[in-house]
Amino acid sequence: MKKTAKKIISFKKKGKKITALTAYDYSTAKYFDKAGVDIILVGDSLAQVALGYGSTTQVSTEEMLIFTKAVSRGVEEALVVADMPFLSYHISIEEAVKNAGLFIQSGAQAVKIEGASPYILQVVERLTQNGIPVMGHLGFTPQYINTIGGHYVSGRDTQTTLEILRLAQSLEKAGAFSVVLEMVPAESSNFITQRLNIPTIGIGGGKFCDGQILVSDDILGKYDNFCPKFARQYSSLKDIIFNVARAYCNDVEKGNFPSISESFTLDNEEAQKLESYTQN
Ligand code: KIV
Repeated sequence: MKKTAKKIISFKKKGKKITALTAYDYSTAKYFDKAGVDIILVGDSLAQVALGYGSTTQVSTEEMLIFTKAVSRGVEEALVVADMPFLSYHISIEEAVKNAGLFIQSGAQAVKIEGASPYILQVVERLTQNGIPVMGHLGFTPQYINTIGGHYVSGRDTQTTLEILRLAQSLEKAGAFSVVLEMVPAESSNFITQRLNIPTIGIGGGKFCDGQILVSDDILGKYDNFCPKFARQYSSLKDIIFNVARAYCNDVEKGNFPSISESFTLDNEEAQKLESYTQN
């Protein structure tokens, strides 16, 4: 059965840990879904890991929509959340609603937006009023990298933890159904998680969050430009890909690929006819 934003909130009440992963293509999304992942996020991290850009600020709405459609086609049960890219919800509330609508029409059931300024809270309110569930994102917010100036941990002391809590509570009040806490110390995330009715989804947020999310290329070991401290690598797909490509090249170069069983062949009579054919 399809998981909904409401169902995700109910997991917190039941004490069921929420599992979330990013995915960017049909096949990966399909197998994450089959494995029982609750939330599949079409993260704007695809800017770096799928498109090779330097930062999430470089990916456009048009590009994000293509990946959202591919992922949505592969998923039957998980809640598909689409990351709204840089500037797609900042210019006006009207534009935010229009762009969020494009993600829903592309197959997502919710969108994620970063920050909780008074303007962002208005966006969250309007989107939810229009039937678009919103996941918030606090702590380190990559779309603000140029003003933040680096990948810094947030909530390192009581004052900043209280500030993240205040922002998370405002997101909850505005209608958000969950909030990602990125690079927040475990004790701070715990403090925030206990004071919210909506689930917290940690990425570098420690074990006390209601759920966890990781970037798929990190857990699969596919992207090696940078691997954050908080990502657990379950596989080394980059080595598998490299070894498979090397083995293939070797087979082709040595004439070992394709074999007869990997080729289409003529029946004997036709093969002999072809062989004895002499062109005038
Ligand atoms: O785009 C992404 O992968 C994300 C995660 C950090 C949650 O937003």
